[in-house]
Amino acid sequence: MFDVKDIIAQAIHKQLPELSRDQIYDMLEYPPNPEMGDIALPCFKLSKTLRKPPVQIAQELASNISDMEFIDKVEPVSGYLNFFFNKPLFVEQTLKRILEEQERYGSQPIGQGKTIVIDYSAPNIAKPFHVGHLRSTVIGNSLRKIFEFMGYRCIGVNHLGDWGTQFGKLIVAYKLWGNKEEVEAHGIKELMRLYVKFHEEAEKDPKLEDEARSWFARMEKGDSEALELWQWFKDISLKEFQKVYDLLDVHFDSYAGESFYNDKMDAVIEELKQKNLLKESEGAMIVDLEEYGMPPCMILKKDGSSLYATRDIAAAIYRKKAYDFHKCIYVTGAAQSLHFQQWFKVIELMGYEWAKDLIHVPFGLVSLGGEKLSTRKGKVVLLEDILSEAIKKTLEIIESKNPDLENKEEVARYMGVGAVIFSDLYSNRIKDVSFSWDEVLNFDGETGPYVQYTHARCCSVIRKAPEQEVSSFNPCLLQTKEEYQLCKTLYQFPEKVMMALTQLEPSIITRYLVDVAQDFNRFYHEHPILVDDQQLRTARLALVKATRITLANGLKLIGLKPLERV
Ligand code: ARG
Repeated sequence: MFDVKDIIAQAIHKQLPELSRDQIYDMLEYPPNPEMGDIALPCFKLSKTLRKPPVQIAQELASNISDMEFIDKVEPVSGYLNFFFNKPLFVEQTLKRILEEQERYGSQPIGQGKTIVIDYSAPNIAKPFHVGHLRSTVIGNSLRKIFEFMGYRCIGVNHLGDWGTQFGKLIVAYKLWGNKEEVEAHGIKELMRLYVKFHEEAEKDPKLEDEARSWFARMEKGDSEALELWQWFKDISLKEFQKVYDLLDVHFDSYAGESFYNDKMDAVIEELKQKNLLKESEGAMIVDLEEYGMPPCMILKKDGSSLYATRDIAAAIYRKKAYDFHKCIYVTGAAQSLHFQQWFKVIELMGYEWAKDLIHVPFGLVSLGGEKLSTRKGKVVLLEDILSEAIKKTLEIIESKNPDLENKEEVARYMGVGAVIFSDLYSNRIKDVSFSWDEVLNFDGETGPYVQYTHARCCSVIRKAPEQEVSSFNPCLLQTKEEYQLCKTLYQFPEKVMMALTQLEPSIITRYLVDVAQDFNRFYHEHPILVDDQQLRTARLALVKATRITLANGLKLIGLKPLERV
């Protein structure tokens, strides 16, 4: 497998055995200016370890490094060591590798034999699926695809919020102000109206809160009336969630939500007691975490009912037994960071060495014009509305640009939904995002539709030369600035996938796709592809095919379907 960065890292490592090949590999940079070479080693990063000034390090390395395959020139320039590729060789090897590996291009089989549990989406039953859950869903889905691409077995778990006092509230509200027909006709919207009403009324009449608590206590004791209502709310909710998952093309291996752990909690509490971790505090049962600088982890409320953390602890122990995971990853808003730190600590205190394999992947807040979203106040943008609006708008664009397109509706669906996913995965996940229709539906610039258009453009060129064989081409014909730059960008894909995996950061791939699309379009505008000169045509077509493969592989990793015609 061709990897010139690896060749460089090995050669430097040979000169500097005190640093590992991996350490050096991670230090290497792609200079923004081609005059500074194709890859550079910033030697100031080494001066502390080697106790030498960077300029001297660069000079010594330059004179000691022997001839390297693929490298024409090594040049020390003020503390940097710049490597210049042999361009034709580099272009040839890069494109050959992509054309050979096809849909495997970018993957490395590092995950064989390892299982990753990914806990994502996890909306709360009887509440609408909102933009905050969209983030968890698309980030989790993308991470899952990235891990699978690298050979891991993945178990996607939808840890539904289907248990807790809120169902007591909903039952009270339903009994006071609801009826069957309305719920059946309006589904979650009606359940949400009842939920909001409960909170309005409870402010005036706090007794309602007690009633809600007692209904939840009945649920926990297995009361059949309470459970039937709960199951009904759950069925209605799941049916609506499924519509969203179908649109997003997201799938789960398990829907074991919070209620799944009801019969597994006593054992956990028993175990906590035996391990001397449980303490009474004002009638509630807690694990004291003061020593670790955290507030206590509440395990049982005064009335004996369990909590979010209790169910997460039971779930983790269950998952370890059921899947023997290598890592278990939780994708939720950063607001829950403390919750995860607390109960991860409890697992550690229980003596489970695998506590270190539990990973919280937080993301920033989604706000609506700067205000925090809260179901209670009814301030939500429904995901279903966003998706259908995006599809509608895409269809309008297609009608005006390409009215004869076949399967317009289907293309609009993939493009529109993809635009929403793409925009969500474009920012660093920890950044707060303010939801705005204009941004999500902006079809120009750094967006999903732009990358999709570029992919379809590659497909259209390839369709026009159906019989063209590109396995052998003359790389000396791909030496213009645009062609060479595109090759260099394509070359970086495997590294980007690896970075996205280690940093659990899909935005690395999303942004990379925009770079590829921009580089391709610069090339496309400067250089005709299907020219008469057969040699030139073959070489340029090889580049188009390699671009198509890279774009398609990247799009799939962020959960988009690459479109062939738009
Ligand atoms: N239902 C929760 C929410 O909407 C997210 C659950 C995340 N997963 C977990 N195991 N705690 O905030």
